[in-house]
Amino acid sequence: MEIIICPDEAQVGVYAAAKIAKIAAGVGPKVVLGVATGSSPLTTYIELAKLEKAGKLDLSGASAFALDEYVGLPYTHPESYHDVIRRTVTEPLGIDPAKVSVPDGANPETAGEAYEAAIKQAGGVDVQILGIGANGHVGFNEPGSSLASRTRIKTLTAKTREDNARFFDSLDQVPTHCITQGLGTILDARHVVLVANGAGKADAIAAIAEGPVSSMWPGSVLQLHQYATLVIDEAAAAKLTHQDYYRQIFSTLPAWQRLDV
Ligand code: GLP
Repeated sequence: MEIIICPDEAQVGVYAAAKIAKIAAGVGPKVVLGVATGSSPLTTYIELAKLEKAGKLDLSGASAFALDEYVGLPYTHPESYHDVIRRTVTEPLGIDPAKVSVPDGANPETAGEAYEAAIKQAGGVDVQILGIGANGHVGFNEPGSSLASRTRIKTLTAKTREDNARFFDSLDQVPTHCITQGLGTILDARHVVLVANGAGKADAIAAIAEGPVSSMWPGSVLQLHQYATLVIDEAAAAKLTHQDYYRQIFSTLPAWQRLDV
């Protein structure tokens, strides 16, 4: 696992975008992106849009797959992930909306299999952008999720519903279920770039990067991925035991591995 510690949230966006742009350049304009909702990747999307504008990133033929969707929320609801992805990713990055897929929360029984088939049909995800929940969830793979899981319906934990209540008028309005790519689905992406900011994520980051691989901290499954990068701010890095080593690695990278920032 590669760990990049940045001074603040803005720099997390700069470095994560640079990493994603480097991967995308290796793939070409038909890159398949895996995209995440939540506040953590927002600075990354802003920086990706800047790189496009500067001619340093070509997403003209890109397609995208979202990680998850609430069950039972109309797609026109501003907090449905269909709408969040349109607002924060598809429009700012100018990706053709016809090439952007979000799991079908209106048909949860068949959505999982259909989504897996669509990802396969697209040739798989080249680079998956991830945030992380305070309890270590990625996508909506809550603690206890099978490390081999595929896209399916999940029950949200009370903690996740409370965390996400800030986006709704009241806790009652937060859906109880979702459709999420599984941990096995996420592991199939060719690269993974996880971003995290703030002290509220410090326990989760320490657990997934330095703790045992365990379904109790679902993000720890990334220890099994060959190309997983964590781009985190100082506050999110605060509980990592080997921070000095990660900083040393990053500051002594050979030229070909450095990021263009
Ligand atoms: C939601 C999403 C996750 C996201 C998490 C963290 O639960 N399903 O994909 O990583 O929230 O959100 P935030 O980045 O706002 O802390």
